[in-house]
Amino acid sequence: MKKTRIAVLISGSGTNLQSVIDKTESGYLPVEIACVISDRGDAFGLERARKHNISAFTVFPAGNASREDNEEAVIEVLMRYNVELVVLAGYMRLLTSRMIGRYRNRIINIHPSLLPSFPGTDGYGDAWRYGVKVSGCTVHFVDEGCDTGPIILQGVNPVEEIDTFESFRERGLSVEHRILPEAIKLYCEGRLVVDGRKVRIRGKE
Ligand code: GAR
Repeated sequence: MKKTRIAVLISGSGTNLQSVIDKTESGYLPVEIACVISDRGDAFGLERARKHNISAFTVFPAGNASREDNEEAVIEVLMRYNVELVVLAGYMRLLTSRMIGRYRNRIINIHPSLLPSFPGTDGYGDAWRYGVKVSGCTVHFVDEGCDTGPIILQGVNPVEEIDTFESFRERGLSVEHRILPEAIKLYCEGRLVVDGRKVRIRGKE
């Protein structure tokens, strides 16, 4: 099968990036990680990428560059590396409608809650403080809203009585590390059909 060229966008530690790297190297994912882009120069994920000889860049709004200018620089890298699928793996910036339009249904995001509950930047903290009994994570296509795009996969993370916030988050991350690669694989196999708000998975009927 032809390999899909993907870019992984990060802002931090990059444990999701690591799961994508590992599942690529094991042969589970039919992808080539063309590049990794971070908006923070100190993101540990950049080191993870370089350790695996993946081109890694920091693109952030310098001086008084606008959000649009910053994103133009991101798009330039994506085009230079001939990227088909953009994977947001802990990338903490909202994308402009220009980029979303350009890569319509070709940008996916992992979010650490069962959307539409707890969108935003602190999914784990918000769910934990609210006191939910069941949480989880969501992989979705990115649209113009904040964490509102059509849902591809969700994984469940039940809250146990003995949980601390850390144990809850750790277990949640392990669910993320499973479903993000699974969603990428479904995309690469051409099995995702976006129909309005719904994403049908071919072959699962
Ligand atoms: C992950 O929990 C991811 O779901 C979350 O950031 C973390 C990144 O961890 N993303 C968001 O909250 C996006 N709104 P990682 O850098 O170890 O992959």
